Amino acid sequence: MKTINVGLIGFGTIGAGVAKILSENQEIIQKRLGATLRLAKIVDLDIETDRGVQVDDGVLSTSVDDILENPEIDIVIELMGGYEPARTFMLKALANNKHVVTANKALLALHGDELFGVVEEKKLSIGFEASIGGAIPIIRSIREAFVGNRIHTIEGIVNGTANYILSKMSDENCEFDVALKEAQEKGFAEADPTFDIEGIDSAHKIAVLTRIAYGTPVNFDDINVSGITNISSDDIECAREFGYRIKLLAISKFDGEAIDIRVHPAMIPISHPMASVNGVLNAIRICDDMMDENILAGHGAGALPTGSAVVGDVVEIARNILSNASDRVPASSFLNSEIKPIPLKDMSAIESEYFLRFNVLDKPGVLSKISGILGNHCISIESMIQKGRGEEGKAVSLVMMCHRSSEKNIQNALKEIEKLDVVCGKSNLIRVEK
Ligand code: HSE
Repeated sequence: MKTINVGLIGFGTIGAGVAKILSENQEIIQKRLGATLRLAKIVDLDIETDRGVQVDDGVLSTSVDDILENPEIDIVIELMGGYEPARTFMLKALANNKHVVTANKALLALHGDELFGVVEEKKLSIGFEASIGGAIPIIRSIREAFVGNRIHTIEGIVNGTANYILSKMSDENCEFDVALKEAQEKGFAEADPTFDIEGIDSAHKIAVLTRIAYGTPVNFDDINVSGITNISSDDIECAREFGYRIKLLAISKFDGEAIDIRVHPAMIPISHPMASVNGVLNAIRICDDMMDENILAGHGAGALPTGSAVVGDVVEIARNILSNASDRVPASSFLNSEIKPIPLKDMSAIESEYFLRFNVLDKPGVLSKISGILGNHCISIESMIQKGRGEEGKAVSLVMMCHRSSEKNIQNALKEIEKLDVVCGKSNLIRVEK
C-alpha cells in the first residue's frame, strides 16, 4: 500500500488534535483512502511539553527544514498561525512542490492573492477548511457543493470564543472577563484573544469566504469591524425583553454591483435558527439564486473539530495525489484569472433596524429631545423601554428599537444626541438583522 507522508508545523492545541486523529483513526483513514497517511515529522519550537498524544521516536523536531526540505514529505500542515514566519514557510513548502493545509485565516485574508496564485501556478493544492467554522464544511460547500449557484449572502457566527462569551453572559448572567477566561482555558481563543473579541478573527474569515463565494480579492482594511467588548449584560437583558439575542455576526452581501461586508454584534430574533446557536458552536447561512438559504452549523473551534477539518483536507489532497489530479478544484473556487475586484459598499450606505441605548438623566423633556433629533433625521421609533427610576443627578438607561433607516442618518443623529447635556457618556448602537 502506498504511503503519503505528512509534515506538521505547529504542535499546539489543533496540532495535537490532528496528531491524535491521524494516530487513533489511522485504520479507518486507510480503508477510505487506500493508502497510509503517515505523520512523518512534527516541528515546533517546544517539543518538550506533553501534548497528550503519543508520537513515534524521531518524529518531533525543532527544525522546520526537516519538513520543508524533506523530499519524502508530500503534504505540509501549517498550524503555527500568524503572518510570519507562517507565510514564508508556506511559500517555501509550495516552492518545494509540497501541497499545503492550513487553519490560518489571518494569513489567507491578508496574503490570499499571493498564496493562491502560487498554488495555481505550481498546480498544487491548498486546503483551508479548518480556517473557518472549525468542523463545518463551509469551504467544501462553496468550492464544490454549491459550485453551480450564484451566492449573494453569507452571514455567520464564525467566532467560537465570542459566541461562547455572549452565550455565557446571556445564560448565566456572568461578567465578560469570566467568560473570556474560561474560553481561553478551553483552548478556543486565539493566542491573542483581542482578535476574537474585537471581531478581527471573524473579519479574516468573512474576507476569505467573500473571496471564494463571489470571486473577488478583498482589501482587509476596508472591512468595517466592531467587536463585543461594548456589550453589557444590560444590552443582553434588553435584547431578551425585545425578543432578540445578541450575536457577533460576520456579514457579506453582494447585490450584483457592490459587496456589503462587515462584522459587528447584531440582534437576531429569538425565533431565528441562528439565535439558538450557542457556546462555541458556529453557524453560517448561505443564500443563493437557486435554493434560497442553507444554514450549516457545528463546532467552530477546539482541537478535535478543527483537527477533523485539517485531516479531511489532508485526505482529500492525498486522494488527488493518488489520482494525479492535484489542481482539480481552484483554490479560490474561481480560476485565479477570474478573480476580479468588486467594489465594497461604504458602511454609511447600508440600511438596518437599530437598537439604541442612551444613559440619560431621568427628568422631564429628555425623551422628547432625543425623539425630536431622531425624527429630524427621518428615524422612526418602534418601541422603547426606560430601565429604572433615576435618583437625582444619576443616569438611567433609555433603550429604543428603531424602524429601518440608513446608517448615515443614525450616525448623524447619535452625534447630535450625545451632545445633549442630559445624555451621559457614549451611547450604544446594535444593528438588528432579521
Ligand atoms: N479563535 C477561533 C474561535 C478559533 O474562537 O472561533 C477558530 O478559528
